[in-house]
Amino acid sequence: MVKTNEPNLSVVSRDVQKVPAQALVVGIGQTSGGPVLVESPLSPKAASALAASLPLLGVTGAADEVHRLPGLPELEAQMLVLAGVGKVTAGVPLSEEALRRAAGSAVRQLAGTESVALALPAATVADAAAVAEGALFGAYSYTEHRTDKGTAPKEPVRSIIIVTPAAEEKALKPAMERARILGRAVNATRTLVNQPPSHLYPETFASAAKDLAKPLSAKVKVTVMDEKKLERDGFGGLIGVGKGSSRPPRMVKVEYAPQRAKAKLALVGKGITFDSGGLSLKPAAGMQTMKCDMGGAAVVLNALLAIAELGLPVKVTAWLCLAENMPSGTAQRPGDVMTTYGGRTVEVLNTDAEGRLVMADGLVAASEEAPDVLIDVATLTGAQMIALGNRVSAVMGEEGVRDAVKAAADRSGELFWPMPIPEELRASLDSSVADIANHGERFGGMMTAASFLREFVGEVDGVKIPWAHLDIAGPAFNEGSPYGYTPKEGTGVAVRTLVAYAEDVVSRSV
Ligand code: BES
Ligand code: MN
Ligand code: ZN
Repeated sequence: MVKTNEPNLSVVSRDVQKVPAQALVVGIGQTSGGPVLVESPLSPKAASALAASLPLLGVTGAADEVHRLPGLPELEAQMLVLAGVGKVTAGVPLSEEALRRAAGSAVRQLAGTESVALALPAATVADAAAVAEGALFGAYSYTEHRTDKGTAPKEPVRSIIIVTPAAEEKALKPAMERARILGRAVNATRTLVNQPPSHLYPETFASAAKDLAKPLSAKVKVTVMDEKKLERDGFGGLIGVGKGSSRPPRMVKVEYAPQRAKAKLALVGKGITFDSGGLSLKPAAGMQTMKCDMGGAAVVLNALLAIAELGLPVKVTAWLCLAENMPSGTAQRPGDVMTTYGGRTVEVLNTDAEGRLVMADGLVAASEEAPDVLIDVATLTGAQMIALGNRVSAVMGEEGVRDAVKAAADRSGELFWPMPIPEELRASLDSSVADIANHGERFGGMMTAASFLREFVGEVDGVKIPWAHLDIAGPAFNEGSPYGYTPKEGTGVAVRTLVAYAEDVVSRSV
């Protein structure tokens, strides 16, 4: 069900003139003195002629700008493409993220072209890998439900050629392999998020998880708990939230347990395949994007698969908490009390605060296995968008993990910002009838939600498991126009951060 376009990726070091691609992309930077050609592979004569005509062509070099020109006599490529890389300063190399975005934007906008060679300034292996990642993220479209070719988006680019002087370096091959793995993981996450809720519900999500793990079946084990098992074992959060839907909930446990693992990492993902709000019904406009509410589960699944494919020596278990939140005669009511997995009771004051209920089950189950670190990912609160907007995700929790996640995000080029969980907020979740209520102080709602989750993080030998919570409510889903390598709708955000976090765990432990 989760079909993903996987472009062919190759690397060349020289003879750009002879690269048999339909399009050759070169970078244009913005300076105070106007647009400049950044590190052109063209002949000096062609380069200076082009540089001189940039302002006349209306080229500024701003990010996301793409200009198509006819091919030059010296080039095999039929088309020369000028891609904006944003502001540049003489002598200062572009950041990896600027390269990723420029490559992604160009490849995205060149959909319909078969083969694209990217001659952006990628001097090092890391730069070349960033260009490759961006290009793979840009070569994405979701067309599963299109029947009319006329209105469907053009086919994504099928063949990507990276031009880099680092082509012969030994580290290049594994770096390209890593880019390929990240490309697949991010794009598969997007496709899961983009699936309409008519097609993706807990049961079909569980089978999609099995399908996606199939190529790695020697390393990755998938266990699906159905509603009977969940009921029997007391997963009251999932059962309670799923009660209003005709599609019963699932818990999916995905395990990667390599030999000689250096650490044990647990991931928990919010997998609400559609969030109507339940009886605390959302207004129509707020419901329109709520197929994205399983984004956290899609992220932890694909991050685990990428970590397994990379063969990192880290044991990872991902818990996908899958339910559909619907209003009906069988739905949970505001005022109901549920017993979450492990026995703690929650008063459900607002059925739209459902994410924390299914996550409570997941956090307790994950804690039982005594991981070294526990990280959860969720499109948890609208308050995240009020606090940080649509581009910046929040990371909260125990300081050490929180800061390590932030560092991993910075290294991957994803925007995360650390937020506190003040002790003071916990009191607003006090319930008059149960151990805790699912709804508290409205202001700072993102932190209140995190403070609820923290209650369900377990202890090992009396010490709380180091835990971080990633709220990706806004950044998981792009309601606006595409930009950089980011398409409309599902973005796949947080996959790269989790993979980088696992890599950092390995490199810290050697
Ligand atoms: N799934 C939503 C949060 C959300 C909102 C994600 C917008 C992505 C975009 C979540 O279940 C929710 O409804 N949260 C409520 C909590 C409130 C009732 C305490 C919210 O944020 O309004
Ligand atoms: Mn909700
Ligand atoms: Zn939700």
